[in-house]
Amino acid sequence: MTSTGFSVGFKTRDAETQGAELAWQGTPPPWLNGSLLRTGPAKFEVGADAYHHWFDGLAMLHRFAFEGDRIRYTSRFLRSGSYRDAIVNNTIVHDEFATNRTGPVWSRIFSRLTGKPTDNGNVNVLAYGGHDMVALTETPYPLRIDPKTLETLGPFAWSDGLKSEVTTAHPHYDAARQLIYNFEIAFGRKTFYRFTRMTPGSHNRSVVAEIETSEPAYTHSFAMSERTLILAEFPLVTTPLRLLLGGRPFIESYRWLPARGVRFTVIDKETGAIIRRAEAGTCFSFHHVNAFDEDGVVVLDLLAYPDARIIDALYLAELRAGKAIPQSLLTRFAIPLGEGPVTQTVLSAAPLELPRIAYHRLAGRRHRYVWGASPTGSGFFDSLVKQDLETRNLASWTEKDAFPGEPVFVAAPNAASEDEGVLLSVVLDRDQERSFLLVLDATTMTECARAYAPHVIPFGFHGNYFPDAA
Ligand SMILES: [Fe+2]
Repeated sequence: MTSTGFSVGFKTRDAETQGAELAWQGTPPPWLNGSLLRTGPAKFEVGADAYHHWFDGLAMLHRFAFEGDRIRYTSRFLRSGSYRDAIVNNTIVHDEFATNRTGPVWSRIFSRLTGKPTDNGNVNVLAYGGHDMVALTETPYPLRIDPKTLETLGPFAWSDGLKSEVTTAHPHYDAARQLIYNFEIAFGRKTFYRFTRMTPGSHNRSVVAEIETSEPAYTHSFAMSERTLILAEFPLVTTPLRLLLGGRPFIESYRWLPARGVRFTVIDKETGAIIRRAEAGTCFSFHHVNAFDEDGVVVLDLLAYPDARIIDALYLAELRAGKAIPQSLLTRFAIPLGEGPVTQTVLSAAPLELPRIAYHRLAGRRHRYVWGASPTGSGFFDSLVKQDLETRNLASWTEKDAFPGEPVFVAAPNAASEDEGVLLSVVLDRDQERSFLLVLDATTMTECARAYAPHVIPFGFHGNYFPDAA
């Protein structure tokens, strides 16, 4: 394989695809009737301008619709403010994660102050507690989308008056409480971390807890147990002044200060009270996997990198040059709610990213299985893995010159066991220069079926399966 084997997955795809009928090879389970909705960057150049980082590209939505023997694929650009302004002006207008709009520094500062924040929902697609379908990025500007046509319907408008600048595209749904939790940061003269909760169907967040901070940490996700919310502050931090006046793109305003270590704050979901603050050795993470309460301890699994160099490795120039990305390890932190140190254990020998669990069943409760994409031989995600945390058994799926994305776990109806179901993953077939939708048996990690799209689907981040009629 050439060193740039996977780079075709980072090329702009300008064309949209409308309801392409794909052909199954193999046999998907008969109960797979619904749709997989995903988002990811697909347009990396606008006029003479170019985005710098994988996280910057303009969002394209993807839909695989399953109906009987049929599978259809549709893609559509998210008509975000970032997208519309870029197309109309033929240049980058909104600052993104690692790319600022062009123009003199003063105009960039002005735009920061006056606000043309991005709403480029290229990170995740979900339905708020089964209600509004939204495309999300790490700003508090979700966009509503039509799950059937992928049309952009408009902003998901908050009615609560809460102001913040950044949030996560990984809200949690607590099915027992029927509440959506998320985390945000409100920058200002005083800066606050804030946990919110919201009833599905409402547009009204309420504050669970606010914690003042002078050096906010970059936070891509957070963890939730049945009883608690957990903030992990990795030592990639900024200050409001650096962010506002530094003239640098958002993420380049953050500094890696490893001596800070990782700082955990455990919060009571009901009262918002801080139950425990604790520290551990340094690491960086994008993705929490899950957390659960056990005998006076909060157990938290996340994917730990030794440092924040993964962010640099995901600049498009690095990826297109085929440079290997750093590897993250599935790591368990046990945080005593009383006194006592945090303990830390690596749970898998395989590097793992884009993790999924049997979320509907086990969010906030002890899980046994973690699935994810793994960068092993090629330097980019080239296998899908399943880590059994009881037996420590590791199973994987891999194929020559195939580069899979996030494996979305779909439980079988009335599943008897945690891992009964399938994984859905969009895989780049480098040789055929096409992507395919892969259906894996989540128990055995063997292939049930695949269906080729007519073209390469640029690598994306996250999505979800919706068991509605296709
Ligand atoms: Fe993510």
